[in-house]
Amino acid sequence: MSEDTAPRPNSPEARDAASVIHPLTNLKVHLEKGPVVIEEGKGVWVTDNHGNEYIEGMAGLWCISLGYGQDRLVKAASDQMARLPYYHLTNHKSHSPVIDLAEMLLDIAPVPMSKIWFANSGSEGNDSAARIVWYYWNAMGKPEKRKIIAHQRAYHGNTIASASLSGMHYNHASFGLPLDGFLHITPPHHYRYAQPGESEEDFATRLADELDALIEDEGPETVGAFFTEPIMGSGGVIVPPPTYYEKIQAVIRKHNMLLIADEVITAFGRTGNMFGTTTMGLEPDMLVCAKGLSSAYIPISALMINARVFDVIAEESDKVGVFGLSFTYSGHPVSAAVAREALQIYAEEDIVGHVRSMEPHFMGGLKALRDHPLVGEVRGKGLVAGVELVRDKTTGEAFDPLLTVGPYCNDRAEDHGLIVRAIGDTISFCPPLIINKNEIEEMIVRFRKALDDTLDMLITQGQIAAT
Ligand SMILES: Cc1ncc(COP(=O)(O)O)c(C=O)c1O
Repeated sequence: MSEDTAPRPNSPEARDAASVIHPLTNLKVHLEKGPVVIEEGKGVWVTDNHGNEYIEGMAGLWCISLGYGQDRLVKAASDQMARLPYYHLTNHKSHSPVIDLAEMLLDIAPVPMSKIWFANSGSEGNDSAARIVWYYWNAMGKPEKRKIIAHQRAYHGNTIASASLSGMHYNHASFGLPLDGFLHITPPHHYRYAQPGESEEDFATRLADELDALIEDEGPETVGAFFTEPIMGSGGVIVPPPTYYEKIQAVIRKHNMLLIADEVITAFGRTGNMFGTTTMGLEPDMLVCAKGLSSAYIPISALMINARVFDVIAEESDKVGVFGLSFTYSGHPVSAAVAREALQIYAEEDIVGHVRSMEPHFMGGLKALRDHPLVGEVRGKGLVAGVELVRDKTTGEAFDPLLTVGPYCNDRAEDHGLIVRAIGDTISFCPPLIINKNEIEEMIVRFRKALDDTLDMLITQGQIAAT
């Protein structure tokens, strides 16, 4: 639906605007504009209620990795619903799907892990990890070691703790967040944050020094953990430069902190390895995954915990009496059965191998857009990428955010039957991992049309000179 079409009375769009609150949406604008109502999906394609077809270039919200119409996942859910639709894990109860799933996750973990904690969303996974950081340091006799550091522009979720971990303005503004004790450092984005002439190596060293200085300033005895997305997603698909994690991890080790990898986007093949931790050379103590774990067919998240942490929290739970974290739906059998089936599909269909064979077409096709007057930087790995639109390609000068160039381009892509996601003026791509070469090419053809429309608009408005 184009941006100036008001919903017809009693249409699904009007009924939605009258009744539904939408996340990450301007609520006031939505009352006028209404939604695009998606009705069905198959493979990488979705169809709206007017019969328009779109390539789903963002796998929904970075999540439906195996695409739409995976009958095996549907069957796994319905079989489990018929057999045992619910059981919980408290008080020494369990069930087969969750036991199988935990073992499968431990088998594929990118670094040795000891146990799996289950929750329902990435936010709850990160929230649980933050709670476990605090529990761990209490148990270690260092209750003051509870500050947690993450990146500005990181997105770790939206519970109170995970929103505090996140470094996004919109997660904090008017909510009175972050909570005390959540600190944020410069994101590892060389294109935007490097000083003039600074090499990637020097930039990485400077950021590691910044982290070290922050910890020294706060007092290392008060800083318990560092959270990172191996590749930052919602912050604009930021791929840290070589040597960044090596240097950052040396600082974390020096100050005896825990490292948590938030792999909610990057796990299960997205970056060309099963885990982004492997792609980026991380050695986390805990690892959070969600989204692709069930290919988004049903809510579930998993927090992998290594022996260093588990052994300590197990002792502490014995002292307290129970481990006091609990969700009614932790390890829900239907979610666990779907995730178990999804992991089987990743393995049987060699999804990682497929991502590797598609990466040159995907990244190569997007990089070819660098010839376009609006494209400043193209960055990514595997099948996740960001294309940053700029006013001046040679200097990287950004557009005034009030011009909303990225959102305009996003809407034009939709007009051309392509769903992407504007993060400011970075257009992000995260298609289902099952996408094929022809679909990648079609996605890029459609995106180039959206870029041309955006350029036309900027020329018409006198923002950019016609060449
Ligand atoms: C890296 C990362 N962590 C955590 C989350 C939060 O996950 P959820 O929306 O399932 O709570 C997201 C969601 O996009 C994410 O991208």
